[in-house]
Amino acid sequence: MHSNTRSSGAADQRDELARRHQRLAALGEMAATLAHQVRTPLSAALLYALNARQQGLPAAQRDLLLDRTVACLHDLERLVAGMLDFTRDARLGQQKLSVAALLESVEYSAGALLKPGQQLTIKQPRDALTLDGRREALAGALLNLLSNALEASGPGARVTLTACRGPVNLELRVSDNGPGVPELIRERIFDAFFTARRDGTGIGLAAARTVAQAHGGQLTLEESGPSGSTFLLSLPLASPGRTALAAPPAVPESTIRSCVNP
Ligand SMILES: Nc1ncnc2c1ncn2[C@@H]1O[C@H](COP(=O)(O)OP(=O)(O)O)[C@@H](O)[C@H]1O
Ligand SMILES: [Mg+2]
Repeated sequence: MHSNTRSSGAADQRDELARRHQRLAALGEMAATLAHQVRTPLSAALLYALNARQQGLPAAQRDLLLDRTVACLHDLERLVAGMLDFTRDARLGQQKLSVAALLESVEYSAGALLKPGQQLTIKQPRDALTLDGRREALAGALLNLLSNALEASGPGARVTLTACRGPVNLELRVSDNGPGVPELIRERIFDAFFTARRDGTGIGLAAARTVAQAHGGQLTLEESGPSGSTFLLSLPLASPGRTALAAPPAVPESTIRSCVNP
């Protein structure tokens, strides 16, 4: 009995050590990838800024170099912001949040993502629904999905964000008319740092999934084919009986708002 306890204790210790090694290895891998991701725009910005300092450079050329420096710094900022979303505890600052208010903040920021010819439609649920959550984190997750959908679909993008009450959860769907996610990479798109785009960071879907899970929800690729993809973010609704802060009036039927960048 004693020796059994001792040996199971030793086995526990070994398991714990193995888990620790695994965590450290994963952390090392993440740090190495992040360092690599940061280094590219950082070295480019440094190079452009150094070139811009040259004596006697024509003003137009200096401006061009400075514009490029700023563009690289924006890339860096985007990367770091994505990392913060990913690591921050997405539940911090949870509050009662009306779905209408969430969609409104998404709508405000999404306007800036639209390129000429692209169209985004937001469909509201019929009833006033409420979540427990952090508005910035959830809006950030939805914006990641929208930005991917617009990226993938190009100039003729028709992207829809639909919110409706599902059998159990609130269901938020982002659908696009892009070429779909290639079968070969479907398994990996939610992995941190996995990207198939030249200027991608691979953080968007990983961060969005972390936010979904931190809210007790899920993010999945519901459908994908040559005529488009649909990502589904499902989130538990707030317990009934409690009302939202600034709950919007009940809407008789779904409202449809479209933003277009002509
Ligand atoms: N709506 C979409 N249509 C097609 N492919 C997509 C879509 N959303 C995501 N992907 C694929 O998933 C990959 C990972 O996405 P993400 O994590 O946001 O990183 P990033 O956008 O930086 O590449 C993308 O590079 C792309 O290949
Ligand atoms: Mg992305």
